[in-house]
Amino acid sequence: MSFAPSTRKGPVGVAVIGAGNISKQYLDNLTTFPDIKVLVIADLFEEAAKARAEEYGIAEFGAPELALNHPDVEIIVNLTIPAAHVEVATAAVNAGKHVWTEKPFSLDRESGLGLLKAADAAGIRLGTAPDTFLGAGLQTARRIIERGDIGTPLTGMTTFQTPGPESWHPNPAFLFQHGAGPLFDMGPYYLTALIQTFGSIRRVAAVGSSAKATRVIGSGPKAGEEFAVEVPTHVSAMAQFEGGQSSHSVFSFESPRLRMGFVEITGSEATLSLPDPNYFDGELKLWRPGAEEPEIIAATGPANGRGLGVLDMARALRAGTPHRATGDLAYHVLDSMVSIAESVESGTFVDVTSNAPASAAVPEDWAPETASL
Ligand SMILES: NC(=O)c1ccc[n+]([C@@H]2O[C@H](COP(=O)([O-])OP(=O)(O)OC[C@H]3O[C@@H](n4cnc5c(N)ncnc54)[C@H](O)[C@@H]3O)[C@@H](O)[C@H]2O)c1
Repeated sequence: MSFAPSTRKGPVGVAVIGAGNISKQYLDNLTTFPDIKVLVIADLFEEAAKARAEEYGIAEFGAPELALNHPDVEIIVNLTIPAAHVEVATAAVNAGKHVWTEKPFSLDRESGLGLLKAADAAGIRLGTAPDTFLGAGLQTARRIIERGDIGTPLTGMTTFQTPGPESWHPNPAFLFQHGAGPLFDMGPYYLTALIQTFGSIRRVAAVGSSAKATRVIGSGPKAGEEFAVEVPTHVSAMAQFEGGQSSHSVFSFESPRLRMGFVEITGSEATLSLPDPNYFDGELKLWRPGAEEPEIIAATGPANGRGLGVLDMARALRAGTPHRATGDLAYHVLDSMVSIAESVESGTFVDVTSNAPASAAVPEDWAPETASL
């Protein structure tokens, strides 16, 4: 999809819908980017929006309609719960606003495709988390790989394993329901990192299991309450990419041993250990044949945190250029996750037919804090 430069000038007007937990990280950054002006914060619970508005000095707060109908809002940043993502994003598209949506893009292929089509028909941009791949950590990895330092990239391994979030999360049931679990909650970070390296996934095979049918809330006012586990809490997935490369990933809420953020890409000449794809920064390690210790490489480039993708979209909007964290990329990630879940059920390989578009590298000197519009 191509876009004309926007006719408006200056900072891009933004409204946030969803004033929950993650809105703090976004607002910490969005309110410091001079190319963005946060005009409105909205939530179904207006008290939550009011509190965030006061915390960040945002002029207007209230119900989602305030954001959707605001004449100066150009991008809606949708930080609602996964089950509301498509509904809120579609309302924004219908209101003629560009949309940034948190992950997962949707809970199923049908509604995700519907959103892509609606945005396309309306000439609206969709941007989607994760934007961690725009950060210094994964962009440094990209530069190392594109420079040929590991030779030809061949295989990937990723691991995310924890005991599960019910010990610390006061309201964890949703993380064990349809559209969540370790695959849908954490998969977007790991699969996006792999797809950015190898291109589109062409087929997947997976096994999965749940050790317990119910779990118990471990903290907060509901501590001791039991809730149902509706999705696999351990998934082990293989993927094959368009160029024949392959990867193996573990997504688990069943491991007493914590192992998070493990991503390794092995090429014909060396293995590169990437930083945690849930973060924007971190150290890289390059393992060459015969070397006892890896070469340690510091990440370079901007690493501000969540909101970088919104800024990239805002600048692209003014320039009429493509933004990087697109709805098409997020849909391919979602399609791959749904295919992995289907493979767990069927015990067979599942073909993935959607495509991840290539996104341009982030320049090392990209400057989020500099006014450019
Ligand atoms: N919390 C994290 O650490 C984290 C990290 C990365 C991504 N995310 C993603 O961010 C999103 C939000 O997560 P969170 O932890 O902030 O959740 P949260 O439950 O703390 O906040 C969500 C907010 O959205 C509001 N909301 C729900 N439906 C709405 C609707 N239809 N219209 C308007 N407001 C609505 C809720 O009232 C709530 O205030 C999720 O998609 C999650 O996957 C969260």
